[in-house]
Parts: sequence; structure tokens; C-alpha cells
Amino acid sequence: MRYVSLATFFLVVLAVSILGFRGSISTKPPLELIPDMDHQAKYKPQAESPFFADGRADRPLPAGVVAYGRTSTSGTPDATFLQSDDATYLGKNADGSWVVGFPKSVKVDARFMARGQDRFTIYCAPCHGALGDGNGITKQYGMGATPSYHDERLRTMAEGEIFNTITNGKGNMLSQADKLSAEDRWAVIAYVRALQRAQNGTAADVPPSHKAELGLK
Ligand code: HEC
Repeated sequence: MRYVSLATFFLVVLAVSILGFRGSISTKPPLELIPDMDHQAKYKPQAESPFFADGRADRPLPAGVVAYGRTSTSGTPDATFLQSDDATYLGKNADGSWVVGFPKSVKVDARFMARGQDRFTIYCAPCHGALGDGNGITKQYGMGATPSYHDERLRTMAEGEIFNTITNGKGNMLSQADKLSAEDRWAVIAYVRALQRAQNGTAADVPPSHKAELGLK
């Protein structure tokens, strides 16, 4: 008899605990047996932080960050912005043809070339090689088919098309748009042009003051 009443008691408790609280509302968070990483220390947008002197958890952008939204890697850049200057941000003229030469927004001078060399050495030389001949370090690790800039096709390619390749990538070459601002991309192109001229120089390119050194007349 004792066992029967005990069993009945447990059955009642079980029934109440399973059925009894259905539909009741609680403001407490649910019991989480396995919380995974749901709750972590973090700042919500625009929250305060005592850590920084200005009290803001959101930090201003460091100098030189490249905006993703403006020249998009997906080929669908911000429309209103682009209407202002397709040449600079797409390498395209108003009629859709590639820009030949450099857009008005950039000034090709010694500083610009030096910047181009600097960025090229970081972002392009590992594949394309310091001379632009396609013999970068990645070749030793099995990355084939990196073209040489000294092929006729690439020597005569419009600057705007090269800009497009840097922005969107091509084949095994990834987009570099998140690493190089539009201006930096043009600077790299200026340096690519310099590399191409360096490999295709003639006696006429040597300044008169240096001709004697090279035994030229
Ligand atoms: C990960 C290696 C890699 C990096 C980094 C890289 N490239 Fe390339 N690049 C390639 C490969 C591979 C191709 C050939 C793509 C194809 O034709 O399929 C290529 C093609 C090109 C072409 C020719 C495109 C055409 O229309 O045939 C140009 C110009 C070029 N790269 C410029 C650059 C510049 C400038 C940079 C640096 C901003 C750069 N690349 C960074 C691997 C790379």
C-alpha cells in the first residue's frame, strides 16, 4: 500500500511538472544547460566605455582604412557616389570605355610613384615578382600562370582595365579592393607602367647626361 501511494505521488508530481506550467509566462531567462558562447563580455553599438579617455566604446577609424562600400568588390558600388567620378573609382569613362592614362583626380609625381612602389611590393610582388615578370615567391609554392606585365597584351592594356583587375580580381587573383584605396590602386598602376618601361627601354630613354656612362652617343 505504501508503494502504491508513493508511486501515485511521484506520478502526480511528474504530471504537474510537465503539464502544469505550460503557457505560464516568465521574465527570467530560460535555463540553459549548454550555454555555448551565447553570453560574452562585449560592447553594444554606441555604448559607453570607461577604458577610453573619450568614454566611447565605438572607436574612430584609424588613418588609412579603406572604405568597402565605395568601391565594392562585388561590382555593385554605391551608385550615388560613383556618379560623381567613374574614372577614379571604376577606371571607366562616361561611355563605359576604359580610362587610358590616369584620371584627373590623381597627380602622377615622384611621391605618387614611391607610394605605388611601396604598395606594389606588399600586395603584388609576392605573385607578380619585384620586376613584374610573374616570378613571385608564390610560384615556388605552386601558384602557376601569374602573367608577366611585359607581354605585349598587358603593356598595351588600358590603365582603367588594370584598375578593374585590381578592384575585382581575375581568375586566381583576388580582389585587392579591401587593401588598396582607389588612389593607391592608381599609384600601383603608375608603378606597373614604370616596371614595363624599365624592361623595354631603348637608348632614346637614357638622359643625355648619362649616355656617356653607358657608352652611348
Ligand atoms: C595571389 C597572387 C596575386 C596577387 C597578390 C596579385 N596578382 Fe595579379 N594576377 C595573378 C594571377 C594568377 C593572374 C592571372 C589571372 C587570370 O588571367 O586568370 C593575375 C593577373 C593580373 C593582371 C592581368 C589581368 C588580365 O586582364 O590579364 C594584372 C594587370 C595584375 N594581375 C595586376 C596585379 C596588381 C597590380 C596586383 C597588386 C595590387 C596584383 N596583380 C596582385 C595573381 C596575383
